Formats: sequence, structure tokens, C-alpha cells
Amino acid sequence: MIVLKLGGSVITDKDRPETLDGEAIEGAADAIADALRNETDGLADGLVIVHGGGSFGHHNASKHGVSTTDGTHDAAAALEIHGAMKTLNQFVLRRLLERDVQAVPVHPFSAAHRDGDGELELPTGQLETLLAEGFVPVLHGDMVAHAGAGATVVSGDELVAEAAHNLAADRIGLCSTVPGVLDENETVIDRISAYEDVASVLGGSDATDVTGGMAAKVQALLDLEVEASIFGLEELESFLDGSDAGTKID
Ligand code: IPE
Repeated sequence: MIVLKLGGSVITDKDRPETLDGEAIEGAADAIADALRNETDGLADGLVIVHGGGSFGHHNASKHGVSTTDGTHDAAAALEIHGAMKTLNQFVLRRLLERDVQAVPVHPFSAAHRDGDGELELPTGQLETLLAEGFVPVLHGDMVAHAGAGATVVSGDELVAEAAHNLAADRIGLCSTVPGVLDENETVIDRISAYEDVASVLGGSDATDVTGGMAAKVQALLDLEVEASIFGLEELESFLDGSDAGTKID
């Protein structure tokens, strides 16, 4: 089983609020539909897709001063952010359905929560049943109930890590705006097995913080037992084929 994240800035126009990148989203949907049709490596057991927020999520979240740690108790604010993400989710679903991918929505706001330490809990019964029934669940960065903080943002990366761990995924793919993790010469690093290997280019491990960035992504993926790859849209097809794509983190 594969968990694939489509980065928000891949599928939306980052500079314009609530604007899709139509070409990118179509390209991603084409690659996913082809891979599912051919049942490429690891896809026989299904695919979970998670997409980010891009110009739909971040714009609305910052307007309300909400982040993964700073919450809100204002239902209208939570609904505005959640609503924008649902709109983006509908666009993604429609592109997949047009290509006969049996994609269905799973809204994390209705499924997940954070405990008082901010730890994300994502139940798996719903995802397991959808996968067993042949559906492709499509989750997205969203709002979540957060004990002691109201409602906070949950990022697509967090959902990918939690879903991949809970469902014992075979592989994780992060389709990003960069072709992989880059070294000091802007060359893609083929493989990362330990943070020390890349600390000099990504910064010390204590440089990771809640706002994410590549250092946090790499660290989180190294902590998981599941093999992961970070790659650009042009390599999505290769990744789904089981070929090497971008940077492998294991
Ligand atoms: C953000 O999700 C979701 C909200 C701000 C509501 P992500 O953090 O996963 O989005 P991208 O991929 O960075 O755009």
C-alpha cells in the first residue's frame, strides 16, 4: 500500500488565494490513474492520497492566526479554513473521478484529533475499510480538534506520517515543488539514511520546527519505519511504477 502526498504548492497557484494549478493537478491525476490501471508496484493493496493546502489552506489559516500549535475556539474561523480545504478536495476528487479513479473524501476534521501534547490521533478503521472495498481515500490538510487549544491546523505531512504508520504502508511518496532534497550544489541527493548525512545542508537537527520546511520533513520521514521518497511532479509516474524518484529516505 502506498501513501502519496500531493504538496499544496504543486496543485495550487501559491501566489493567488484559492487558485488551482490546473495543469499540475491534471498531470498528477493522469499519472495516478495510469498507475492504478496498471496496478504498478505496491498499488495492488491500494493507495491513500493526502493533499496539502497551498493557496487554499495557508491563506485562510494565517488570516485567522491559526497554525499547528496556535488554535482557535471560533467555529466560524475553523469552518472557513475547513471549507476552503473541502473546496480544494472536491477539485482533486473530480479530476480523479474523471479518470475512473474510485476516489472518495476523508476529512480529517471529522476523523482525527490532537491530544493535550499535540500528538495527532488518526483512527484507521475508516481508511482500512475504504481500501478493502477498492476505494482511494483522499485526505487533506485540515483543522482538527486539539485538547486545550480549540482547533488547530493539521498538515498533510503529519497525516501522511500517521496514516503510513497506522496502516503499515509499503512506501510513502511526497510529490513536491522540488525534484528532491538538494545538496549545496542544488543537486538531488539520491538517498538519505541518517540525519547526520545531510545536517550540513539542511541545518542542525534542532533547526527543525513546527512550520516544517525540508529539514522537518526529512527528520519526520527518517523517524518512520516506512521507506519514503521526495520528488517533483515529473517523477510521480516513476515513483508509482516502483522506480527510483528524487530522494529516497529510509
Ligand atoms: C495545510 O496543509 C492545511 C491548512 C493550512 C489548513 P499542508 O501544510 O500539508 O499544505 P502544503 O502542502 O504545505 O501546502
